[in-house]
Amino acid sequence: IQQKTWSDRFEGSLHPAIVQFNASIGFDIELIEYDLTGSIAHAKMLAHTGIIAPEEAQQLVTGLEQIRQEYRQGQFTPGIDQEDVHFAVERRLTELVGDVGKKLHTARSRNDQVGTDIRLYLREQIKDIRTQLREFQGVLLNHSQTHVETLIPGYTHLQRAQPISLAHHLLAYFQMAQRDWERLGEIYARTNISPLGCGALAGTTFPIDRHYSAELLGFGGVYGNSLDGVSDRDFAIEFLNAASLIMVHLSRLSEEMILWSSHEFSFISLTDSCATGSSIMPQKKNPDVPELVRGKAGRVFGHLQGMLVLMKGLPLAYNKDLQEDKEAIFDGVKTVKGCLEAMTILLGEGIKFRQERLAQAVAEDFSNATDVADYLAARGVPFREAYNLVGKVVKTSTAAGKLLKDLTLEEWQQLHPKFESDIYEAIAPKQVVAARNSYGGTGFEQIRQAIARAIAQIEQT
Ligand code: ARG
Repeated sequence: IQQKTWSDRFEGSLHPAIVQFNASIGFDIELIEYDLTGSIAHAKMLAHTGIIAPEEAQQLVTGLEQIRQEYRQGQFTPGIDQEDVHFAVERRLTELVGDVGKKLHTARSRNDQVGTDIRLYLREQIKDIRTQLREFQGVLLNHSQTHVETLIPGYTHLQRAQPISLAHHLLAYFQMAQRDWERLGEIYARTNISPLGCGALAGTTFPIDRHYSAELLGFGGVYGNSLDGVSDRDFAIEFLNAASLIMVHLSRLSEEMILWSSHEFSFISLTDSCATGSSIMPQKKNPDVPELVRGKAGRVFGHLQGMLVLMKGLPLAYNKDLQEDKEAIFDGVKTVKGCLEAMTILLGEGIKFRQERLAQAVAEDFSNATDVADYLAARGVPFREAYNLVGKVVKTSTAAGKLLKDLTLEEWQQLHPKFESDIYEAIAPKQVVAARNSYGGTGFEQIRQAIARAIAQIEQT
């Protein structure tokens, strides 16, 4: 049944296409649990301040809890004629508890109501995502502990640069996730502020207690300016910014997983639990999971951009444009959660490091050339001079099809009298990595300390 929405000022009814166009119930039903929780706190506040009677508040709370049960059992499915979740709940409440239901909206507007709902929703999601980040960090840490002394080529410009510990590489992603976790903690605090009681824009004539309802809802504070309270979406933009950075990090890791699983790199193999085949090429094993994560990064960046543009021209205070915040936030949340889950599974059981191939990779190139220059520099040869000399050696060796380790001691000493037989030890891949013992470097001693620090970080709450 089409129910009357607006005051008696309205005589005609909305064009059916405009009903459809205006409605948000199709997506804001996602907020229902938070809408009910917010309304319960509001009802209790109304009784606490004597605006309604305690028995009336009790009836409202009972009715709202009943709607929660109906919703959870799949029995509350409001249609498009309800416009949005707020109207749908208020109408159902009045059906259930009678005229007292019409008192719920005293001293409240949908503007402060929807702001309350979206903050309650988002703070919950932020908690979940932080938990997921911890799980993701846990898998990175596990691999790191196993692979302190597993070497892998380190790259700059995607050209072999210097060999590093595989743990060092993975711990770089651990630290990105750590910053994501910390950032979301800061955003949680700014999301967790109550706009409830800001009214439509200017506050209310009723003697409400905003701090009381805020406390019931677990908010850390209340907005001090009602115009700001109903029209602020900074927290949503901050969240989508943090979500975008998480996606940047996951996407970079995905790109590496895709490269590493290619025949050309062959640093990892994909297990059957996370790889997919081809419908035509029987030999294929495709890294669909990291490819999808890399692809989904784009939509989260899009939501961030969308929200910035949505906000930039809005005059104070509430404007219906703000209804457009929801799908951006919901999809951003779902995408980040899905990607974190998939990447945690991929890293946990979807890949195997090909250790022989990695060992071979670091032994077959000139990525120890810096160490030869360092060797001479440590023996008094100015670094730039040593660097030029080694450049020449790389050139002649490449032409001769040789690696540095293949040069005889005589050849080394012809190049420079400072070379001695310990040059071979100095350019062996393990030693090359171990020697980078500066703080935060890849040396094994540093990695062990970095792992200890990572364990302490992951235990922070
Ligand atoms: N569905 C609306 C939204 O999502 C609720 C607030 C509507 N307020 C109003 N004054 N039209 O923003």
